[in-house]
Parts: sequence; structure tokens; C-alpha cells
Amino acid sequence: MSFTKKWLRKDIQSISAYHVPNSDNFLKLDAMESPFVPNQDFQNEFTDFLSKVEINRYPNPSADEVVQSLRNLMGVDDSYGVLLGNGSDELIQILAMACGEKESIMSFSPSFVMYEMIAKFTRLNYLDSPLIDFDINLEEALNLIETQKPKIIFIAYPNNPTGNLFNREKIETIIKSTDALVVLDEAYYAYSNDTFLNDIAKYENLVLLRTISKIGFAGVRLGLLIGSKEIVSGLNKIRLPYNVNSLTQAACKFLLNKKDYLQSHANSIVNERKKLIESLKKYKNITVFPSQANFVLIKTEESEKFFNFLLEKKILIKNLSKMKGLMNYLRITIGSKQDNSIFSSALDEFFS
Ligand SMILES: Cc1ncc(COP(=O)(O)O)c(C=O)c1O
Repeated sequence: MSFTKKWLRKDIQSISAYHVPNSDNFLKLDAMESPFVPNQDFQNEFTDFLSKVEINRYPNPSADEVVQSLRNLMGVDDSYGVLLGNGSDELIQILAMACGEKESIMSFSPSFVMYEMIAKFTRLNYLDSPLIDFDINLEEALNLIETQKPKIIFIAYPNNPTGNLFNREKIETIIKSTDALVVLDEAYYAYSNDTFLNDIAKYENLVLLRTISKIGFAGVRLGLLIGSKEIVSGLNKIRLPYNVNSLTQAACKFLLNKKDYLQSHANSIVNERKKLIESLKKYKNITVFPSQANFVLIKTEESEKFFNFLLEKKILIKNLSKMKGLMNYLRITIGSKQDNSIFSSALDEFFS
């Protein structure tokens, strides 16, 4: 028996590492990244800015300037605390590490896969409340909360991969019904018409997650948790020192102040989303689901064939068929106007 077979936790041996498909030379419409590449002047200015980073020194441990830039960009009140992570994935991990032995994390299915994966890595129980018609099954969820007493409830708002917002009243009923920390994951806030940002002051057990990955800067790796100062200072004890590196901090100081640039890109995505949904709706054998995010979920009997047809055309979308309950579902990230016209031509060629 090999060393690893003897040594590595059995439950980890039986799972696969998070799979990222090769996308070299593909039109990438699979991971909800921004399609916008900054122009040459922007890139020169950015490179100049980064060249001043003191790479021989540890980063600023509290990244105060980044926090301030995020507060300005997202309108986060000074009375709220902000905790930064190396992407919001790291913040999900920090939240899980705050739970005790044998405690549970709850979320909904289908939803963002990392809630369940991180529960597994941190040896917590995972409680799944299946959605009905892509919305929360309130009765079932409340029953699970009452009987299993989860420590944390993750709610992606808008949800990935369905793209919709769950019913707000149901979420508020859940927040009020439990002693669990409710984490509203607003990764797609820039494309949605609702937020729980103003509700943090109302509920002591509510925090928000956001990320800069979906607004243009997935490569920079920065997520934030917004909550009461007390919760943030408790969670901060678990955060590894220097988790936000100097290059990320410098990049954020430069990038996050470009409010108009970010807003115009968000507007363009929302516009393209509307157009893409119209193109998809032309075909009777495609069901298109409403979206408040920078992606659209569709269902078609032809999912496998269409996915492979796109691969041949060097277009990569996300095939969700292997996820529980999502047989024949595909998720398409909204690209630039040009990206979407390439996708739409392929769509017409396949379905006409
Ligand atoms: C709902 C949701 N939360 C969090 C993330 C991860 O964000 P980050 O890139 O900040 O780790 C994603 C990524 O797809 C997501 O869909």
C-alpha cells in the first residue's frame, strides 16, 4: 500500500479535486468571469502601480485601504465590520472552522458546491434542503432547522447555478426562526435588483458574503464578509495572518476605485443577458430560466450534443448534467456583446 493510501484521510481519498477544465483558446462562458479586458493605457497604469509593491515585506495585515475602497464601492456602512478573504471561498472555510465538532452546515440544492465540499473538508455534517421550482421549500427547511439545529445556513442570493433570487419573505422567516448564523452569499449582487445589505443591522445572526471575482477581477482573489463588528472580530481570530497578499492589496486599491468603469460593465452584462435570453427563447426545445446574475440556466434534451457541438467550436459553457437534479441543464456565462454574438450564431446553427 502506498504512503498516501495509508496516510490520507479515507473520506478525502474517495473524492476528486475541484475540476477546472482546460480552456486554452476557448471562448470562456463557463465560470461567470467578466469578459472585459482593460485597454492598453489602463494596463500600463496598472503595471506601474503594481511595480511599487514592496515584495520583500509582509503585506499590511488588516488591508485597511482595501476595506475602505470596498466600503466606498459597495456602500458598506461604517457601523458594519468587514473581513477579507482570499476569495469568498476562503471566507466560507473560515466560517466552517468557527463551528464545533459534530456541528452542521445547511444549504439548499442545487446551489454553490463549495458549501458542501468545505463542510466535508472541515469534518462537519452537511444538511441539504432541496429547492422546489428553484425556490426554498420553507416547510422542509424550517423542519430541518428545528430538528437538526445547523450552526450555519448558507443562502446564495442570487443562487448559483439557478440564477434566481429566492423569495425574500422565506429568507427572513428563516433568519428569524434560528440561532444559526445565516450567510447570504451575494456573489452576483452587481447583476441583481435586491440585497440584504441593509438588513444586517436588523438581524444579529445575518452576515453577507461578496466577492470581486464576478465584477471583473477573478484573478485578483478577494472576497469580503460584511457583518456586525462583533461577529467579524470573532471570525478574524481564525483568519490566517497575511491572507490578502500585497499584490492583491495593491491591485484592489487601483481597481476598486474605478466605480464608473465597473458600473458600465455591469450595465452591459445586464443588457447582454436580456438579449441572450431572447435568443434562447426562440427555440421551443430550450427552457430558459429567469436570471438575476451574470449567467443563464437552460434545460434542453439536446444538452449533451449541444455542449459537445460548442466544444468543437471552441466555446466552453458549463454542463451541469452530473449535478443532482440537473440532468440536461446547461449554464451559460454572459459575455461581451461580441462573445454573445459568437454564442448566438452557434446556437442558431445547432437548433435551427
Ligand atoms: C455563490 C458563489 N459564492 C462564492 C463563489 C466563489 O467566489 P470567489 O471567487 O470569491 O471564491 C462563487 C463562485 O462561483 C459562487 O457562485
